[in-house]
Amino acid sequence: MEIHASIPALRTALKGRSRIVFVPTMGNLHAGHITLMREARQHGDTVVASIFVNRLQFGPNEDFDKYPRTFAADCAQLEAAGVDVLFAPTETDLYPEPQQYQVDPPGIQNQLEGEFRPGHFRGVATVVLKLFNIVQPQIALFGKKDYQQLMILRNMTRQLALPIEIVGSDTVRADDGLALSSRNGYLTPDERQEAPRLSRVLAGIREAAAAGERDFAKLERAAVAELNAHGWRSDYVAIRRQSDLQTPEPGDRELVVLAASRLGTPRLIDNLEFQLPA
Ligand code: PAF
Repeated sequence: MEIHASIPALRTALKGRSRIVFVPTMGNLHAGHITLMREARQHGDTVVASIFVNRLQFGPNEDFDKYPRTFAADCAQLEAAGVDVLFAPTETDLYPEPQQYQVDPPGIQNQLEGEFRPGHFRGVATVVLKLFNIVQPQIALFGKKDYQQLMILRNMTRQLALPIEIVGSDTVRADDGLALSSRNGYLTPDERQEAPRLSRVLAGIREAAAAGERDFAKLERAAVAELNAHGWRSDYVAIRRQSDLQTPEPGDRELVVLAASRLGTPRLIDNLEFQLPA
């Protein structure tokens, strides 16, 4: 695997390469990321990953400095997963001057995750557009675990006519249903036992909707009540339509239920797509 930190070096390395598939990350990789890398291989000829902890997407109360940096272990995993080129810029490489031009996603950036992480999606969209311009991939992969991020980036790519196909990759789960996340490492053994409740609650909503329940507000309230009764502190459980994460209108069938809730220290997020019958 070639590793490049500077933008010119990366551009030289990628010159003439065919069908570039790109998987951006912030490092601290787990099995979910590695599944993305292996999936990337099936979509093109050159798999490019990036590792960059993007200061722009961290809020003032989110600890950018404490974000785990595990570069050597990450490189070993990427190499084993068959990644061809790793772009690992320093902050000076990527932001040599203050990033004054930024991407301002529409109102959805202030809802759901955005309500609790103001400015987060502006930082994500800005760095991803910049990374797209540097790597110039034909395809880019993102995990569905960060569903709102995937939706915002998909819509940004379409509205700005970027010649990139965005592929959403299914969430990788532990055997008990818990979505893989680097935050799971902060759970105590007891909390780890409790943690799969989040995915069970989401599956319960999908089943209730399939059985005909259409009072979504009631389902959301019941889900929050169940989590909180078991020691969670929930930010939201929300049923939305997949395309733009707005509240479903009658006739909308492609839905997703998204949740964020704190169990002990870590704040876990998860979601589940589902389809209402015609
Ligand atoms: O999902 C992430 O790890 C980050 O938000 C991303 C897409 C790499 C942008 O910094």
